[in-house]
Formats: sequence, C-alpha cells, structure tokens
Amino acid sequence: MTAASPVTASTSDVVWEAGRRRTFAVISHPDAGKSTLTEALALHAKVISEAGAVHGKAGRRGVVSDWMEMERSRGISITSAALQFSYGDSVINLLDTPGHADFSEDTYRVLSAVDCAVMLLDAAKGLEPQTLKLFDVCRHRGIPVITFINKWDRPGMDALRLCDELVERIGLQPMPLTWPVGDAGHFRGVVDRRDGNFIRYSRTAGGATAAGEERLDPSAAAEAEGAEWSRAVEEADLLAETGGEFDLDRFLEASATPVLFGSAVLNFGVRHLLDLLVELAPRPAPRLDVKDRPRPLESPFSAFVFKVQTGMDPSHRDQVAFARVCSGMFERGMVVTNSTTGKPFATKYVQQVFGRERTTLDSAFPGDVIGLVNATSLRVGDTLYADKPAVRYPGLPSFAPAHFAVARPADLSRAKQFRKGVDQLESEGVIQILRSLRRGDGAPVFAAVGPMQFEVATHRMDAEFKSPVRLEPLPYSVVRRLADPKQRSIVDGGTRSEVLTRTDGVDLALFIDATAMGVMRRLNPEILLEPLVASTD
Ligand code: G4P
Repeated sequence: MTAASPVTASTSDVVWEAGRRRTFAVISHPDAGKSTLTEALALHAKVISEAGAVHGKAGRRGVVSDWMEMERSRGISITSAALQFSYGDSVINLLDTPGHADFSEDTYRVLSAVDCAVMLLDAAKGLEPQTLKLFDVCRHRGIPVITFINKWDRPGMDALRLCDELVERIGLQPMPLTWPVGDAGHFRGVVDRRDGNFIRYSRTAGGATAAGEERLDPSAAAEAEGAEWSRAVEEADLLAETGGEFDLDRFLEASATPVLFGSAVLNFGVRHLLDLLVELAPRPAPRLDVKDRPRPLESPFSAFVFKVQTGMDPSHRDQVAFARVCSGMFERGMVVTNSTTGKPFATKYVQQVFGRERTTLDSAFPGDVIGLVNATSLRVGDTLYADKPAVRYPGLPSFAPAHFAVARPADLSRAKQFRKGVDQLESEGVIQILRSLRRGDGAPVFAAVGPMQFEVATHRMDAEFKSPVRLEPLPYSVVRRLADPKQRSIVDGGTRSEVLTRTDGVDLALFIDATAMGVMRRLNPEILLEPLVASTD
C-alpha cells in the first residue's frame, strides 16, 4: 500500500467527505418505474419541486437525457449520467443506467462506478429479463442490492410470492424492512419491521409532492386497519422465521437484500429508501489498482473513466468523459495525468451532467462523478491521477458481442470522416471494432451486444460525421477468445467460422452457431477457446 499526502484538502476532510457519499444506480426492466423513482427521490431531496421535471412529461421541463432523436422516438434513455443531491448530511450520487438490454455493456460500465444498487421491481411482474441480467452484473461485481417493490398502488402479485421469487430465481434472501398493509392495489401503508409501527401514507394530488406519512403504534394500527394489519404482521413474521431477519453482513456480501414496498408515482416508501441508502449502502472504499493494491481515499486525486459521450448537446457537439473519483479531492483546473498515455490533461471545464442539465463543478470527492468536457483524448477505462504516486485501475472488460457486421463508407469521398467516426465510436464504447486478416480489405467489423447499438452507430456516423455507413451483416452468433494465436488458421480456414482481432489485440473466434463450434472442437481437440469475461449471457 502506498501512503501519500493529500492534494489540498486535509486528509480528514477527504475521508469525511467520502464517508457521507452514497453512490448507487437503479437496475430495472424498462417500465418498472426508474424515471418515476428518480423523480420521487429528487423530490424528497428537494432537488425539484414538482414530479415530472426530471422525466420530461408533456408540457414540463425535460431533464433526463433526451438529446438524441432516437431516444425521443423510442422513448428510451440511452445516455448515462449522474444526479447529485444532498439529503440530510449525506451526498447522494444517483447514476443513470440505460434501460434497454442492448446497452447492457454501457450499464455494466456504470455499475463499475457504484457502491450499491437499488433493484426496482414492478409488483405485477416480479423479476423481468433485463432485471435478471443487471442483477447478474451486480452479483459478478459483488455489489450489495436493496430491493424496492414498486407500483403497490395497483393490482399485482402476492407479497410473499414476490419474496419467494427472489430466493427461487436468483438465490437472494429477501429481508423485508417494511411489509405492505393491504393487497397490491389497496395500498394504505407499511409495517416498519424494525420498530413494529405502522407508517400510514396519504396521497397528494398525482404524487406531485412528497407523500404524507403518519406513524401509528401497533395497537392504534390494529384499531385503524383491523384484519389487514394482523395479516401484514403475520406474513412479515412468517418470512422473518424463514431466514428473512435483517443481517447487515449478508447484505454487504450481497447474499441477501433488504426489501421495501412502495409506489414511486405516489411517492410512498421513497423516503424510507433514501434513509436506508444513507444507513446501509457502503460508503466509497479504497479502490484496488491493477496490482490489487488499495489506493487510500486520502491519497492524491485519482479517478477512472467509465463512460464517454459525444453530442450530448447537439448545438455544441462536445465530448464528455464521465469519471468516478476514487481518491483525494478534485479541484477544477487541476492538471491530471492519464495513466494509459502518460499525457497530461487539463481539467478546465468540469461539469455535473444529468441529461441536459449541467452545472459547473468546482470540487469533488471519492464517490462523486465528474463530467470532463472536451475530453477527446480520454477513453473508457482510463485512469486519471494528480501527483505521485501514479496509479492505474483495472480497465473495464468488454461484453461478448453477439452481432457482427462489416462496415463500409457509403460515400467513398468521405473515407477520412468514416475512419474518424469509427475511432470515435470505439473510444466511447458505442460499439466494439474488430479487424479481419482474412478479408484483406481493411474494412472494420462492428460488433455489438445488442442490434440497437448498430442503429446508434449508423445514426451517429451519418448525423455527426456526415459519413453514411453501409452494414453487411455477418452470420456469426457465438464468440470465444482464441487463446493461442498459432491456432488462428484452424478457425480462419473454416467456412462457418472466422477470427477477428479486437483493437486491444485479443483474437476472437466467431462461429455461426454452437454446433459449428462443437464440430470444430471435436475435430481439433487441441484448440483453446475461452469464454469472454463479463458476459452475462
Ligand atoms: P422506466 O423509467 O423504468 O421505463 O419507467 P417509468 O418511470 O417511465 O414508468 C413507466 C410507467 O409506470 C409510467 O406510466 C409510470 O407513470 C408508471 N409508474 C411508475 N411508478 C408507478 C407506481 O408506483 N404506480 C403506478 N401505478 N404506476 C407507476 P405510463 O403510463 O407509461 O406513462 P405516464 O404517462 O404515466 O408517464
């Protein structure tokens, strides 16, 4: 471990500031209510004064990332950024994750920058495919998860059934901290399982302001709610007897999840979620460098880039690199070193970015996200640091792509812009770029986890680089890492397989299907094919 002196803030300042940060993301299936929950959280923390301001409902101000036409027409959020707000003495950083499965690689990167996740479930649907995928990423990274069962104000599954799903389908022990009084659809409030009291909610018009809350002791609750109250207490006790009693260690080791019930649209249960995040979510901890050495929080400033985005503001066409601060204090204007290139980077323009909303940022501490504007030299996975000792954090692994297409400029006179655009999209991680030795024409192959990444790539090549792209899909669907470059000819010689090389030098063996790979393995038992890291398939 390397001891180091702080940059400007005192050591105790940095440690204290880090200690009050809570950095998390919401993982959910589209439509479970992520945008609504974000609004409700912001409303509680008084960042906004009226629900709808973040989500950009008709006639209201749009804040969430609706910068791209495609996003608008599809109604999905493709970009990621961070919303920061104070809540009591704490500073909450909520990182936005794209909701669509095709952008799981992007989401993975965002999840590399959080200390905790909130798994948001729709009470009527339980665990849905995208939630499962994202949960796998959390499990892979050991991220503790708090579960919020949303939309309890309308008919849904049985509460015990929803808890059973967590155990049966993902092996996660539910530890309900609240339990709903009234079936889904008749939501009146929750039992606070830690003190046994009843929290009764009252609606505000359209959930536009924080819900009213009243606390009743158990005897007053029994009098007010009768059989509903007794049933809720019985059910909650039943679950506690089967291993659902709260256990902080199990939460932190990500084998059990605290569960809350609520309704984001009515703002029921949202305060509880915020309080829980402050109380339970891990605070920023020393991050391990490439040699597995923790860099103390009080070391000089360091951060890693988890997201690069161009064209967030179409009128300026700038590039913003989002970095999570890992140690020390960040101050605007600081000159930092990019440990990948060894080159200096001046941080004159630094912002907090959430959708269209941008504010200039003067300082940041571990757990915070900084948006470095005009950061054309920065790539996803880069480490930045100020002052010695130098540090390098592990890069972010790529997902196994499942879609491949040769890309050519539709207009040959724009070949230079084509190359520039391809480089740019790759540096942002919009798509992976592969090269083929066998094809010989040097045309890049676009590789993507989901086909919508191709749409984003071609749209941007056209709109930003004025270089329309012609894509020729390749028939491959199975990919492995070719461990021994000497075995290239075995795969490259086949008609149902091919080797393509990633920019980082890794050779990928592509097969049209699992049968083709099986046949090749049988005929060439010596071949070394490895699964790709971080695949959630
Ligand atoms: P997402 O970001 O996860 O995709 O979900 P979003 O917040 O956009 O919510 C999807 C739909 O679910 C929205 O309805 C939203 O109002 C609704 N919703 C969110 N939370 C709750 C809740 O607690 N209870 C109920 N009953 N509904 C909820 P929509 O009809 O698609 O759009 P809108 O016109 O209401 O915005």
